[in-house]
This record gives sequence, structure tokens and C-alpha cells, in this order.
Amino acid sequence: MAKKKSRLDFIRMKKEGEQVAWVTAYDFPTASFAEQAGMDMLLVGDSLGMVVLGYHGTIPVTMDDCIRHCQAVRRGAPNTFCIGDMPFMSYQISDEDAVYNAGRFLKEADMDAVKLEGGRRVLTRIKAIADAGILVMGHIGLTPQSSGVLGGFKAQGRDPESARDLIEDAIAIQDAGAWALLLEAVPPELSQFLTKKLEIPVYSIGAGGPCDGQLLICGDMLGLFQAFTPKFVKKYANVAEIEINAFKEYVNDVKTGKFPTDDHCYHILADRAEEYKRMLEEYM
Ligand code: KIV
Repeated sequence: MAKKKSRLDFIRMKKEGEQVAWVTAYDFPTASFAEQAGMDMLLVGDSLGMVVLGYHGTIPVTMDDCIRHCQAVRRGAPNTFCIGDMPFMSYQISDEDAVYNAGRFLKEADMDAVKLEGGRRVLTRIKAIADAGILVMGHIGLTPQSSGVLGGFKAQGRDPESARDLIEDAIAIQDAGAWALLLEAVPPELSQFLTKKLEIPVYSIGAGGPCDGQLLICGDMLGLFQAFTPKFVKKYANVAEIEINAFKEYVNDVKTGKFPTDDHCYHILADRAEEYKRMLEEYM
């Protein structure tokens, strides 16, 4: 069993050019499979709203939803560095709210760190959480909680002005005390620049190869989430197809009497068979 990584391991990996592989997980089995596969870290993303809870976006996800799923992930992956994603309205109102809710992820769900979306506009939140002794990861570029403001789920930083904005955000996030930064859906040129410029690890989801590691949403990479697949996703399996086919076969087996067979049944204790038969006969 590999030892759970710490912030220092991720800093060393950045220095040594070793890529970090991570995915989202929301439940016990996925977390356990990811840990068995040697994943470096896990994010319990608020994408659980879409991937698991069936919402159209992440906005309805609550702190209690996140805590419940983080607890399941921790039970499934006790030896993996796990990050809890702060849902909409858990940090937008005040620094106090942000610290309180970040603390819940550690106290109630044994997470190692938290992540929140936004750049300079959430700087005091990042600083307050970091000052409370909690590892906090920044997240800029396409930030799903503000997709309304961004005009949809669109790539960011594709022109010099918006790229400059993201560079200013990234530097400010590092200076505020974040331990790492996640870039979502930005050009690889910008990711490469920021990965070299910043001392903290810089990770990519849809931000190309030249980062310190890659994140994918498990529902996308496993082919579980059917609504849409972003351009940056590589699909490693089609679990939806496997599940649908298995369910179809089961329905057919039940309806045609192929399931259950004798092999799937519990049998009467061999030395009580006669007695058992007599007991049933009493009720005839
Ligand atoms: O909720 C999530 O899974 C995320 C990723 C999109 C980075 O925040």
C-alpha cells in the first residue's frame, strides 16, 4: 500500500518534473478503485451535482451534499490525498463563512485540502483559509460556478487581455497563500507560462500538457456522464454502455426465467430435509 502523499510530495514532484495524475470521485467504490490504480490525489468536485445527483449544473450542490460524498470517498481511499470542493455560496458571502466551511471538510470528512473557484475577487477568502492552517487550492479559467457570468462553459484566456487577467489572478492566488492552482480550459501556452512562473504546483483540466499534473472528471473519462463530453476529455472506458447492456441482459433473464438458477439459491440443511418437508406439509 503506497503512503499517502502530502503537500511536500507535490512540491517535490513539481521540482523533479513528475506529473501528478488525479480524478474526481464522489463515492466509495470509485475512490477505492482510483486508490488501487495508484492515483496521486482525488477531488470530490461539486461536479457531483451533474455527474451523480442529476442537476444541470453545480449551483444547487450544498455543503451537506459535499460532506456526505467526501466521507464516502475518504472511506474508499484512506491512503490518498483528497480535496473537498467548496460549493456555491459556501465561501461567497464572507471570509468567516469560507473558513468555517473549509474547516468542515477537514473536521467532518477528513479531507486534506479544499479548493475554491475565482481569482482576485476571492483573495481574502483564500488568505483567511490559508491563515487558518487549511491547505487551499485556487481554481481559475473556466470556473463552472460562474459559468453564467462567463457566458457558458467556454474556454478562457484565449486573447491577450483575458490571459493577462488570469496571470494577475494566478500570481495573486499564490501570494495569498494557496498551496496549488488548478487551470481549467485555457490554452497550453498560458498553462506553460504559469507553470514555470509560479512556485506552487499548477494543475490542468483542459489546459494542455505543460502543467504539473492532469485532472479529469471520472464521469467523463469513464463514459458515465452522457449529457455532453468536453473537447479536452479522453474517454478511457464506456461504463454507461457496459451497465446498460448488463441491465438489459438481466431484464431478459428475469423475464425468460434464466435467472435465478439453482446455483443462486440457498438450500435446506441436508440433515434436516425430511423434517423440513413434513413442516411444509402441515400447512398444506
Ligand atoms: O467540481 C469539479 O469537478 C471541478 C472540476 C471541474 C475542476 O471543480
